[in-house]
Amino acid sequence: MTEPHANRTNVADSYTAAAEGYTEKLFHELDGKPLDRLLLADFARKVRSGGLTCDLGCGPGQIAAYLKTCGVWTCGIDLSPGMVTLAKQRSPEIGFECGDILSLKHEQQYSGVAAFYSIVHFHGVQLDTAFANIFRSLEPGGVLLLAFHMGTESKHVSELFGATVDLDFYFHVPSEIAMALMRSGWVIDRIVERGPYPDAEYPSRRCYIEAHRPADQSDRQPTNMTRRANFVTRFRRKASTVLRRQS
Ligand SMILES: C[S@@+](CC[C@H](N)C(=O)[O-])C[C@H]1O[C@@H](n2cnc3c(N)ncnc32)[C@H](O)[C@@H]1O
Repeated sequence: MTEPHANRTNVADSYTAAAEGYTEKLFHELDGKPLDRLLLADFARKVRSGGLTCDLGCGPGQIAAYLKTCGVWTCGIDLSPGMVTLAKQRSPEIGFECGDILSLKHEQQYSGVAAFYSIVHFHGVQLDTAFANIFRSLEPGGVLLLAFHMGTESKHVSELFGATVDLDFYFHVPSEIAMALMRSGWVIDRIVERGPYPDAEYPSRRCYIEAHRPADQSDRQPTNMTRRANFVTRFRRKASTVLRRQS
């Protein structure tokens, strides 16, 4: 298994090389993603009366920019200096900075964290490290909205929006991500899945998980594994209902 921090230089350099093309192509992507807007608006409703919300692994900061239009006090963090530069150019009123989710030391700094496709280069123990670090960075009761590509495969990419890159993308199984979150103490509130928007994005199924850091000792999920599995299944059914309503 790859060491937790072994591939970060490649990732940072790759996204800096691809930053211009990525921003050009994706900064306005939410215009064509109605379910993402709906989930983000609902997330905004939960976090905007609190403190700061971080777009973690923000890329060019389109999620932070959208949350700001929903009345959320936002900032952004990304591993790639090139992405952070472009995020600052696109949204100068938002505070963006370089940082690493895998060594994030923030303690109870945020009311919310949105992490859209920021875990796509993590697998195995890296996921546990990321979820534990994000958990600590949130106030009790703070909310996480996570988006990722669904699947079991990994994909090596050497070209991204015209730039030469060296990136391994990991697809994830929702129930495994939910289990990993619960291992770090998260309470899962919602799991939503959708198919790809044709012509608007890479043709993979997408999953969104909303979870929160427990507000107190009584705010807990069942610890028994069977009950956990049932819980995930129940939320997957609920997600289908949400999607049917969307279509
Ligand atoms: C697929 S892009 C997603 C960007 C943006 N959130 C979006 O939805 O378009 C993944 C982003 O995560 C960042 N990233 C990858 N590993 C990271 C890490 N360890 N810490 C912080 N950011 C990271 C990359 O630099 C890149 O900008």
